[in-house]
Amino acid sequence: MRTENRVLCSLIFFLTFFIAFNVVNGEDPYRFFTWKVTSGPIYPMGIRQQGILINGQFPGPKIDTVTNDNLIISVYNYLTEPFLITWNGIQQRRNSWQDGVYGTNCPIPPGKNFTYALQMKDQIGSFFYFPSLGMHKAAGGFGGINIYSRPRIPVPFPHPAGDFTLLAGDWFKRSPRAILDSGHNLPFPDGLLINGQGWNGNTFTVNQGQTYRFRISNVGLATSINFRIQGHTMKLIEVEGSHTLQSMYTSLDIHLGQSYSVLVTANQRPWDYYITVSSRFTKPVLTTTAILHYSNSWGKVSGPPPGGPTVQIDSSLSQARSIRWNLTASGPRPNPQGSYHYGMIKPSRTIRLANNAPVINGNKDMRLTGVFGVGSIPDSPTWGSGYLKTSVMHADFRSY
Ligand SMILES: *[C@@H]1O[C@H](CO)[C@@H](O)[C@H](O)[C@H]1NC(C)=O
Ligand SMILES: *[C@@H]1O[C@H](CO)[C@@H](O)[C@H](O)[C@H]1NC(C)=O
Repeated sequence: MRTENRVLCSLIFFLTFFIAFNVVNGEDPYRFFTWKVTSGPIYPMGIRQQGILINGQFPGPKIDTVTNDNLIISVYNYLTEPFLITWNGIQQRRNSWQDGVYGTNCPIPPGKNFTYALQMKDQIGSFFYFPSLGMHKAAGGFGGINIYSRPRIPVPFPHPAGDFTLLAGDWFKRSPRAILDSGHNLPFPDGLLINGQGWNGNTFTVNQGQTYRFRISNVGLATSINFRIQGHTMKLIEVEGSHTLQSMYTSLDIHLGQSYSVLVTANQRPWDYYITVSSRFTKPVLTTTAILHYSNSWGKVSGPPPGGPTVQIDSSLSQARSIRWNLTASGPRPNPQGSYHYGMIKPSRTIRLANNAPVINGNKDMRLTGVFGVGSIPDSPTWGSGYLKTSVMHADFRSY
């Protein structure tokens, strides 16, 4: 009898809790966006190029959002060819058909529109979006996505005095699409850009003594980059939605598609300093700069920008290994981020993937070999000749 009562009590307690929680929580907020995608002139390297603009902007508008927000983004395609946007790093829980890649999303035909409905469910951090079809990314159409923590969730660092987004990466003066379509490899890039601009095209103004968050993404097509700020160190705080152990770095390698957040304190004498991005593992080394400007600055940048690592691989690997999750910091929820003991999980299967560049229908095509067909992934690459098919990985819930 007593046990039964206790069971009943806890049941009622749980039900009350459940209902109260749901009522109090309500529905998560909505944010609405209307994006007009057009083709227009841009001059990122001093010469006129045909770029992809979103609401007339290159790079596209930044999305500022909060954990669990619903984003309703209506994309109107005014280009003369099909267009899709993918949301790099957004998890799309139970929502994979909004991911904007060919195969799960139909391209938006020219002159038509499509409304993406995305939820930033249980996510925080720095990400970016980019066009996923036809090498459009080489012409623009990308932009930053910042998911801020909900107001009451503790963040493992003091609120920064400012929050800057830097979309950096390699750039081609001539669209590489025609070159790939003629069966050739991607050429060497012509330069690097920061937020769509070349040398000293961007200025980030800071107040002496204050600390700022810089979110840096590599939005390029071909090269890893190294990021550094003359005379300043960076405290790494977040990598793609996870708070990290807060180590100091004088420079950071950022590989294609990655996003990092660092805190930088303006603790040097009031001056202007180079923010430098250079290509990694390439010869020659491409470099571009922006300006870190102290509001009370006494002088402009002069001389060459500070050098950084170039072709060395070991330092890059050890840096990557130094980046760790802070398992006790909060993530999108107040609880610690990690409770998985990854090192102790026994792998049940190992799949080796290889990238390859076969020529298909006369076009150069970059893809993974041996990933085609539902449930037919071999353990090792098959190295066969290439053919086109949608890649589908057969996996059960939590089996990977
Ligand atoms: C947007 O697309 C819908 C159909 O998907 C269509 O009914 C509507 O007219 C379109 N709007 C514009 C302005 O083209
Ligand atoms: C991890 O996060 C906790 C909680 O914010 C913080 O107290 C701790 O100093 C962090 N550890 C490191 C090494 O960054």
